[in-house]
Amino acid sequence: MKRLVILTGAGISAESGLGTFREKDGLWTRYDLNDVATPRGFARNPGLVLDFYNARRANARAACPNAAHVALAELEAFWPGEMLIVTQNVDDLHERAGSQSILHIHGGLEGALCAACDHRWPAPAEMRLADACPACGHAPARPDIVWFGEYPYHMQQIEAALLRADLFVAIGTSGTVYPAAGFAEIAARTGADCLELNAEASAVAPDFDEVRLGPASRIVPEWVAELRAALG
Ligand code: APR
Repeated sequence: MKRLVILTGAGISAESGLGTFREKDGLWTRYDLNDVATPRGFARNPGLVLDFYNARRANARAACPNAAHVALAELEAFWPGEMLIVTQNVDDLHERAGSQSILHIHGGLEGALCAACDHRWPAPAEMRLADACPACGHAPARPDIVWFGEYPYHMQQIEAALLRADLFVAIGTSGTVYPAAGFAEIAARTGADCLELNAEASAVAPDFDEVRLGPASRIVPEWVAELRAALG
């Protein structure tokens, strides 16, 4: 059981105070994603989009990793084989908990991207319309976030890791957005055991060998403790 791939979603950051998307009071119940999470929305009203991500960046910076993030960082320290966290989240709570091997499939709030020349640089606390790209001078810049209708990052590397995985674990994701929602099916195709850890069963729960329900801050540390005991 040497190669482990973990997919995380908004649910792992919920107990750090960061909102999820599709639950009651979720982000997509308060904002129209077409206005704030699509290229057309940015072209139509870039100021609204920058304000939306400025608020999420401020929330993420004020939040702290919870016991689930910390448990995954501890797991990475004792796990004897390969381990990769693929996160759909744009916060940096995995990094701040100490995890090293992380791929952000939807980008991150701490990055800025030039829509004209693809240059990337660290985002300021608040991105402004007048802030120009340091490389080509184009303004406005956009947050380095993958929006709906855009191709997620690192897909080749992720698919290769899934096909090699012995164990695939999905934590705190509703299983409603592809390609991430299809990862268990890909991993299972080449023999991985699949475990879902969630507050409630996801839309793709049938793709998993085992589903454990509960808050991530409790069930993720419990699962990590089991792995540590099994390794002796
Ligand atoms: N512990 C564990 N799971 C939780 C907790 C918790 N404390 N709170 C909520 N959850 C679970 C919910 O049961 C749900 O399955 O987190 C999931 C949140 O689902 P979504 O809001 O759909 O978030 P996510 O699955 O990450 O969305 C995927 O959709 O809008 C896009 O880019 C966005 O990355 C996001 C993607």
